[in-house]
Amino acid sequence: MVQTIVWKDNQVVMIDQRKLPLQEKYVVCKGYRSVIRAIKGLVIRGAPAIGVAAAMGVAQGALKIRTTGMDHFKTRFDAICREMVAARPTAANLSWAVERMKQVADETGHRGVKGIRSRLIEEARKILDEDIAINRTIGRYGQGLLKDGSRVLTHCNAGALATGGYGTALGVVRAAAQAGKRIEIFADETRPFLQGARLTAWELKKSNIPVTVITDNSAGYFMQQGKVDAVIVGADRIAANGDVANKIGTYMVAVLARTHKIPFYVAAPLSTIDASIKSGQEIPIEQRDQKEVTHFQGKRTTPQGVSAQNPAFDVTPHRYVSAIITEKGILTPPLKAKIRRLFAS
Ligand code: MRU
Repeated sequence: MVQTIVWKDNQVVMIDQRKLPLQEKYVVCKGYRSVIRAIKGLVIRGAPAIGVAAAMGVAQGALKIRTTGMDHFKTRFDAICREMVAARPTAANLSWAVERMKQVADETGHRGVKGIRSRLIEEARKILDEDIAINRTIGRYGQGLLKDGSRVLTHCNAGALATGGYGTALGVVRAAAQAGKRIEIFADETRPFLQGARLTAWELKKSNIPVTVITDNSAGYFMQQGKVDAVIVGADRIAANGDVANKIGTYMVAVLARTHKIPFYVAAPLSTIDASIKSGQEIPIEQRDQKEVTHFQGKRTTPQGVSAQNPAFDVTPHRYVSAIITEKGILTPPLKAKIRRLFAS
């Protein structure tokens, strides 16, 4: 399976997702600031993968704090955590992972700076391992929703590359394939960064799962032709009422799926659910550089002087969501009550 991110000799090594599928290169981050740059620049992307990178980044930051004094260490560590959380605003997993690391630092204070550092490294690696295990569980639960012969449409990349490994939405597809079902995927190309065309297609091909890339604007055409049996996507943040923020364009796909009576499934770990916010209206939507829209591979494709807008995510209202597949099982509407129950226990 693809190794998205690893901790190796106190360095964070990531496959460079800007370069796939044409080049398989790795970026080696030697300090937490290079991890932040990698997250901002989409070397690594996808909510759970960003969470893992952030955890490793703050562990790396802690290693470089030159002090043995606890107060100084804590002040610097908190500043590193703040910088890390600000790298990208939408994915809940980023702040979730940093919060978990901060808690570990607080609980290990009695072991001194050296003790905290080694616990932080241990925790970051644990977050990675847990993420892969969670995705396998999501896959086991979710695969029951797919029949043999299903043609499944997905948007963006919610696969091994977007997580510690295995994937959320694509984890469900993998599990169905491993259960012996014949599954075919339609991958929306996902403008402007082409996560679908480049990344989903790359990793599914590697896993021998049949995949066809389609333009984003042809999803309705294929649904109308009766060629899509289900939609499965990942999520960047899910609000307490079940509203789902995911890659820009997901909302259009969900509305189309409803019109065509096709189930719209979201696969995500609990770390993507932000139960502290009531609805999707409170989810901050990252606005990325216009150049990602006006240029392609460094070359301008729109007229000089014309501006563009580039929201990276949109929110799909919970009424379009048929089910959320988590590591604790499948949540069906009413999502708000199910999410409340999950977080109360
Ligand atoms: O901008 P990206 O590539 O980080 O956006 C990623 C997505 O929208 C994914 O669908 C989402 O994070 C789920 S990944 C398991």
